[in-house]
Amino acid sequence: MPSEKTVFDPNPALAKSAYVSSMSQYKEMYQKSIDKPDEFWGDIAKQFHWETPINYDKFHTFNFDITKGPIFTKWMDGATTNICYNLLDRNVRNGHGEKIAFYWEGNHPDDYSRLTYKKLLEEVCRFANVLKNKGIQKGDRVAVYMPMILEAIVTMLACTRIGAVHSLVFAGFSADSFAERILDCEARLLVTADGAWRGEKLLQLKSICDQAMAKCSQKGHNVETCVVVAHLGRVTSPQGTQYSSNKTPMTPGRDVFWHEIVPQACTSCYPEWMEAEDPLFMLYTSGSTGKPKGVLHTTGGYMVYAATTFKYVFDYKQNDVYWCTADIGWITGHTYVVYGPLANAATSVLYEGTPFYPHNDRFWTVVDKYKVNQFYTAPTAIRSLMKFDDELVTKHNLSSLKVLGSVGEPINPEAWHWYYKLVGKERCSIVDTFWQTETGGHVLTPLPGAIPMKPGSAAVPFFGVQPVLLDESGKEIKGEGEGYLVFSRPWPSLMRTLFNNHDRYETTYFTKFPGYYCTGDGARRDADGYLWVTGRVDDMLNVSGHLMSTAEVEAILTENPAVSEAAVVSKPHPVKGECLYCFVTTTENGVFDEILIKQLKQAVREKIGPFAQPDVIQNAPALPKTRSGKIMRRILRKIAVNDRDVGDISTLADSSVVDQLFASRPQGA
Ligand code: WTA
Repeated sequence: MPSEKTVFDPNPALAKSAYVSSMSQYKEMYQKSIDKPDEFWGDIAKQFHWETPINYDKFHTFNFDITKGPIFTKWMDGATTNICYNLLDRNVRNGHGEKIAFYWEGNHPDDYSRLTYKKLLEEVCRFANVLKNKGIQKGDRVAVYMPMILEAIVTMLACTRIGAVHSLVFAGFSADSFAERILDCEARLLVTADGAWRGEKLLQLKSICDQAMAKCSQKGHNVETCVVVAHLGRVTSPQGTQYSSNKTPMTPGRDVFWHEIVPQACTSCYPEWMEAEDPLFMLYTSGSTGKPKGVLHTTGGYMVYAATTFKYVFDYKQNDVYWCTADIGWITGHTYVVYGPLANAATSVLYEGTPFYPHNDRFWTVVDKYKVNQFYTAPTAIRSLMKFDDELVTKHNLSSLKVLGSVGEPINPEAWHWYYKLVGKERCSIVDTFWQTETGGHVLTPLPGAIPMKPGSAAVPFFGVQPVLLDESGKEIKGEGEGYLVFSRPWPSLMRTLFNNHDRYETTYFTKFPGYYCTGDGARRDADGYLWVTGRVDDMLNVSGHLMSTAEVEAILTENPAVSEAAVVSKPHPVKGECLYCFVTTTENGVFDEILIKQLKQAVREKIGPFAQPDVIQNAPALPKTRSGKIMRRILRKIAVNDRDVGDISTLADSSVVDQLFASRPQGA
């Protein structure tokens, strides 16, 4: 096993041409970003268009100390701009009009298209005019439930052009989850597609939206308009069958097809000038108490930070082709499929399908097809591809690749080495980027030409970011050590609040350690100052890069009348990273059998989404509890991995429970 002593220097050829080409250059820039943040970010902000100029004397203000007053962060407050204008109009004006913004690669290899910056701007203006026509105004929320198609990006940018706040929900969430989110943000309009193919699976998106809208209506909230992209009819199905959009149920007065209203709309739309601190978008992330949190990002700071991280972390150069495989329904899709690349006039690949269709080497086929230079994916995808023959990788050229990115969870050294050797041919830098929905952009990461890499470490802070490790009592751990990962000051794209719930924002992120933003992750600093994120320290778990809370799943399990109590813990999984291991106690009349297991799994799929399905459900006639009745999850985690080394169990009310649970572990679990 490689240790933290294993260090890989960036390829000298890559370092030579990189924006930041040495550790000392990084250190110098980093120091400036900390000592003179206004000057550092001010110089970058000048590259964008500001309709009302920035006041450089009051460039940024914040309070992270809850004992001194309300928490707030402001960057470039009072200046006005429009992010869509900066991403599209500004680039077209700077001569990039004919440059490809996106190569769209469909699920089926026969389906592909491309869009230039000029054309993208026209399409965005068209849809912005449609939104206005439908009565959407500055500040209104627009819900988006879309596959990876160009209209999804057009929708996001059209919202920002008129100051509407988009709220994307990953199109793998169930109707229940989607309804909960529409209700919370009171979306007036919804954009979706009839459906999409993912591999050989058909996703019936419109029908999920119909169910979600019906649930909202029952609760008194009516979505006024639903715009539907007729996508299925224009793509190749895995079976070669033709889909007709007539089959899509449409509710008159509410539902309208994209192709019936967008093409005739006007291709110009004057942008709404937004204050730097006006809301840009919201995106839900799981909360440890169950109810999802509507993370809110604002305009100016997010724009500047997304642009800067994209440029430096991927070392993007003007003729490069970049590809991020993340779904736009997650923050990675927002910042590194849409905003960061477009802010840099980049050319990107937008891929609709899965890594496994039509064959398990689709990623590498696409890399070669578009000569991708920067490739950004998740450890879970890497692990799922490692299982196959090396030949599936080695038969492809892949010589265009320069930078390989990883995001979503700690990357295990084994996956890191496979990525580095087999995909990157030991030529490419790996950037293990640590960040969160809340941080808006990368906060810990190596820079590809400057920072030597250690497999499994997210290395060093990005410019402007000041990480601190704290012990349980809130004392700072200097030098080597492990503790809570917190940040002592904001960088431009830190979330500003939780939608309609500033109290929860303050309690979740700023109360445990006054003066710091608390990530909820633990980390270790090694002798070289490198940071190693060790994972969540709260009751959250990360399944294939999808963050969810154990409480959320427990609540669903106990809804079943046969279940009296449930406790869910995370168990390591070779591909997903972590998986759900559930202990359930049945009621007096409840029967624990295969039917119940099936029902419970199904309930979690329905309430959250298929990705959340538990791997194991174990019968637990009793749970290990302290005398005060607190479930000891530490012990359940040991049982889940069949590790008898449970440590001190003297505080348990009844310690015989532990042996019983070990003895009754399901076969194969
Ligand atoms: C985890 C995804 C280790 C972490 C951008 C964080 C990581 C949560 C890494 C946020 C990484 C993400 N190394 N852990 N490189 N990247 N995480 O909000 O636990 O979906 O708090 O944002 O994923 O997940 P989220």
